[in-house]
Amino acid sequence: MRGLVAAGGHATRLRPLTYSLPKQLISVANKPIIFYVLEDLASAGITDVVVVVGPHSADAIRETVGDGSRFGQKITYIVQGAARGLADVVLVAEEALGDEPFVFYLGDNVLEGGVRYLVEEFEREKPNASILLTKVEHPEAFGVAVLEGDRIVRLVEKPKDFQSDLALMGVYLFDSNVWESAKQVEPSFRGELEITDTIQQMIDRGLTVRPHVHEGWWLDTGKKDDMLEANRTILETLERSIEGETDESTIEGRVVVESGARIVRSQVRGPAIIGAGALITDSYVGPYSAIGDRCVIEDAEVEHSILLDEAKITGVRRVTDSILGRGAHVSRDEGTPRAYRLMIGDLSSVGVV
Ligand code: G1P
Repeated sequence: MRGLVAAGGHATRLRPLTYSLPKQLISVANKPIIFYVLEDLASAGITDVVVVVGPHSADAIRETVGDGSRFGQKITYIVQGAARGLADVVLVAEEALGDEPFVFYLGDNVLEGGVRYLVEEFEREKPNASILLTKVEHPEAFGVAVLEGDRIVRLVEKPKDFQSDLALMGVYLFDSNVWESAKQVEPSFRGELEITDTIQQMIDRGLTVRPHVHEGWWLDTGKKDDMLEANRTILETLERSIEGETDESTIEGRVVVESGARIVRSQVRGPAIIGAGALITDSYVGPYSAIGDRCVIEDAEVEHSILLDEAKITGVRRVTDSILGRGAHVSRDEGTPRAYRLMIGDLSSVGVV
């Protein structure tokens, strides 16, 4: 079994972060999202992985993810010229994947428990496809499956009227029958070649498509609040580990302080992670915070937030529900007139009090 990871797309709902950083490289609990995907594939025994990137994301993803050796994998990259949809991601990888079955995993999804059991079942029972479904509150934002017992009646992408609240998660297993179906798919109402339509095609051809309803958590990291939720969920799974220096600071609960981080006259209340080389001085870092490598927090309070590497917060109380990009700086301004002085990127959003 091989792996196929979709890591293109424009991630417009995460701008401005995604102007300069592909969504799959945004860190959740200080680890790029795509690493969770590759680690999950590795723990299902998948060592041969094709990663499909977009022209704008290609270099950054290659540079961060590398050749796969850190996951015990061999990764082959394919650049998809234009984002034409998930069925096209599958098609551009046809030659690289060959005839072997594969797990198609969207590079911004993280799920509890991983895909190992699905891979094992697929290898044992050899259906033609296997899909993961989960109950969602807003089915209109997803592809959904209408089931009758264990049988899929139909699949609908972004249903306008209610059909089912079981959404297709971003994990699919296919055998080589998928190629023929993907080639027959026509662009959808949103102009994309849909993987949902590809699977419907397989059903129409009489092939076996097995549904699985996922019970644990599933994180689809498309928007800021989803990112913060993913961060909360993953931070909850961390074990306490203090490698950096904490002097007389108070470190409460499930906190990871990575090596080279320094926490001075401060309080950190977990779950939280403080990245390598970060410096926290005279500050409070509260629950559900992921502070990236070499970040600086000085005379400030931060909680329920993600700071990407080298972000800095000085003299501000309190920052919450926030995501700061790499090297971003939020500080108290003591100049006159008393005012907010901002330099923020296109499509940023800032909440002031
Ligand atoms: C894609 C699929 C959709 C699926 C979703 C899961 O949607 O088209 O069927 O439910 O991923 O994240 P998109 O992210 O393109 O809106």
